[in-house]
Amino acid sequence: SERKIAIAIDGPAAAGKSTVAKRIAQKLNYIYIDTGAMYRAITYVAIESQQSLADELQLYQLLLNTDIELSQGGSGQKVIVNGKDITEDIRNQQVTNSVSKVAAYRLIREEMVIRQRELAGKKGVVMDGRDIGSHVIPDAEVKIFLIASVRERAERRYYENKRKGFEASLAQLEKEIAERDKLDSERTVSPLIKAEDAIELDTTSLTIDQVTNCIFNIINEKVEA
Ligand code: CDP
Ligand code: CDP
Repeated sequence: SERKIAIAIDGPAAAGKSTVAKRIAQKLNYIYIDTGAMYRAITYVAIESQQSLADELQLYQLLLNTDIELSQGGSGQKVIVNGKDITEDIRNQQVTNSVSKVAAYRLIREEMVIRQRELAGKKGVVMDGRDIGSHVIPDAEVKIFLIASVRERAERRYYENKRKGFEASLAQLEKEIAERDKLDSERTVSPLIKAEDAIELDTTSLTIDQVTNCIFNIINEKVEA
């Protein structure tokens, strides 16, 4: 059937959201929207322009002047800010360690959600983040909440770093992930939370293929229903 739906994938860092979301979007020929990249982008721009991350209003004004484009290229999604490709830059250590602070601000989140809803448009979208099912697209037909143990998620990042040619200690990664989990879950404005009608999937001992297939089955059931 050709009925297009919206798919929300939420969960903590390194639960496998973006990897799986990309695969699903590709298979269904849907657009993929990485909302974490948007919070990373404004954090990167703020750091670059040496703005204080403690000043919410100033950050908000900066965001209003910052065009964030998520382009769907053949070689994956690119993040273009005010015309500049910052796809790689937004993954750096400094951004990773500061992004949850910036993402906790109400003004920042409200503006991001406006943009995300615009990007989502009608249907035919896979969006991943922390508050997609609970807040950004509460009427998404399929909502998935991916989890995995902190240890497993730190190991995933560890191997990912290794593949990219740099090494951070596993203990350090575990600590950073746990800190980000805490900030994201405990903030007041749309925290990381499983929407009531989301399906939780513990991926700790699952491969990417297994997770993808599982979500596919959920989507197919939904579409056929
Ligand atoms: O890829 P990773 O799991 O490391 O994180 P991300 O998806 O790139 O998101 C980076 C950060 O942005 C998160 O730790 C949250 O603080 C924030 N974020 C958010 O608050 N809400 C979203 N919908 C997406 C990300
Ligand atoms: O987007 P999120 O931060 O939730 O996670 P990700 O960037 O998609 O995945 C983090 C890392 O875990 C990647 O290197 C994936 O290849 C890996 N992964 C895995 O080993 N097993 C899974 N079931 C899912 C992801």
